[in-house]
Amino acid sequence: MPKIREPIISKSTYILAIESSCDDTSAAVLQNAKVLSNVVANQEIHAEYGGVVPELASRAHQQNIVPIVQLALKKANIGKNELSAVAFTKGPGLLGSLLVGTSFAKSLAQALHVPLIGVNHMQAHILAHFIEEESQKKPPFPFLCLTISGGHTEIVRVDDYFEMKILGQTLDDAVGEAYDKSAKILGLDYPGGPLIDKYAQNGNPKAYSFTKPRVGSLDFSFSGLKTAFLYFIQKEVKQNPNFVTKNLNDICASIQHTIVSILMEKLENAVAETGIKHVAIAGGVSANSEIRKRLKEADKSKGWVTYIPKFEYTTDNAAMIGIVGYHKFLKQVFNSNNTIATARLKVDE
Ligand code: KG4
Ligand code: ZN
Repeated sequence: MPKIREPIISKSTYILAIESSCDDTSAAVLQNAKVLSNVVANQEIHAEYGGVVPELASRAHQQNIVPIVQLALKKANIGKNELSAVAFTKGPGLLGSLLVGTSFAKSLAQALHVPLIGVNHMQAHILAHFIEEESQKKPPFPFLCLTISGGHTEIVRVDDYFEMKILGQTLDDAVGEAYDKSAKILGLDYPGGPLIDKYAQNGNPKAYSFTKPRVGSLDFSFSGLKTAFLYFIQKEVKQNPNFVTKNLNDICASIQHTIVSILMEKLENAVAETGIKHVAIAGGVSANSEIRKRLKEADKSKGWVTYIPKFEYTTDNAAMIGIVGYHKFLKQVFNSNNTIATARLKVDE
């Protein structure tokens, strides 16, 4: 009698993911492409310094990492012996911060005898679009992704999960930095992006105008805008010391309108140059209400098909590290225990 083959039972893959590239310690558990838990501990310590203090960030990661991982496992209702692999952020980011997550992931993977998966943080922001979520559509390849965070501003052509090409990028500051520095000029706490966004809701976006930079059609530059903004505020405050407090909403709405208009213009150029109309946004600044609104409008007004990430997958989180971990697991792309954290890593590396 011929032997009957066992039916192939599709087994779930459970990935524990760790993100510690900057000032958020995060751990997540994914069952295949679905997020079972995603815990993020924000480090409030940096607010009083007006920016991330690398040494304090590493120390806070050290304090947070064990309880955060335990909480992620508990929320997912998964025992560590059920894990299929451990994924972690390999770079780019602050080296001291990355080292905490890297060392922890290496030890845990070794102790559990499961594969170790190093993840590129920038790829993770983009691939967060492939997390399985009800009512979230996934972009088809190729698509364009405007990746906007505290350290990066790029237009990326995404041809496949791990085939990405930078079409344009910032020549100086990142857009998140432009937000945070403008906020600092206004005396707002770090991170200033969400605060500018909040005050902008009640302001007039046309109250003040700022000159947009002139650079290549797909490139960005924000340092000139930041200086122009600083001089503008200094001049106004000289005439009226209460200028900022009196006009905070209008100032925030105007600088936000300028920044978002620059981003939209560049995306229009990228669509015109590539002919690709599937357009996504990713990274911390994609939490911004105006870019989300303007992108959504482009579905109707420009005939684009746009992809806006769920709010919790915009700023740094481990779920996005987990989805990359899952796709690398499917391809059986693993790292050895000799792998090292890398402060600089491009999206296409
Ligand atoms: O991706 P992310 O969490 O960390 C990096 O990889 O850099 O991005 C953080 C950046 C910060 O600059 C923060 O001010 C900005 O994202 N951000 C925002 C908003 N939420 C976060 N910028 C504008 N509007 C927001 N709602
Ligand atoms: Zn990030």
